[in-house]
Amino acid sequence: MTALSETPAPNYALLNRQLEALLDTRDWLTNGAQLCAFIFQQVPKLNWAGLYLQREPAVLGLGPFQGKPACHPIPFGKGVCGAAATTRKTQRVDDVNALASHIACDADSHSELVVPIVVRDTLWGVLDLDSPAQGRFDAEDQAGIEALVATFIAATDLPDFTG
Ligand code: SME
Repeated sequence: MTALSETPAPNYALLNRQLEALLDTRDWLTNGAQLCAFIFQQVPKLNWAGLYLQREPAVLGLGPFQGKPACHPIPFGKGVCGAAATTRKTQRVDDVNALASHIACDADSHSELVVPIVVRDTLWGVLDLDSPAQGRFDAEDQAGIEALVATFIAATDLPDFTG
């Protein structure tokens, strides 16, 4: 396991400008796939990066992702993703094994960051990042990833699947 101090923070301002240039369609599937691949390639020490989408009420369905096949579906309120969906607040977990509610898709994952994606006051989905390092994500990573999600939202037509 790698300590947080050994993980240099990426230049999130630069990543944000690169992501703006990358997201050159308005299509949610294309931009969503690009978002996950870009983050997986550019943010160090990740073993999973993906979107879960609210495609039916109060349930998160697996969307575009990078990494191993993952859990599906996830009801609102279950796991770290479900907590992000219910509270609409970013969830940052240093040690997922210490959290009873965590859904273990991959035993190699030790820390997790989940950012809610809210559009027109509806929870559209969440961006979920997993790391094999304990305490991988700090406040700078949270702010940087939230800014990348904001860029994705601004660049994309996000349909209301449940409407
Ligand atoms: N660990 C997540 C489930 C999704 S996987 O990590 C890809 C959770 O507890 O919500």
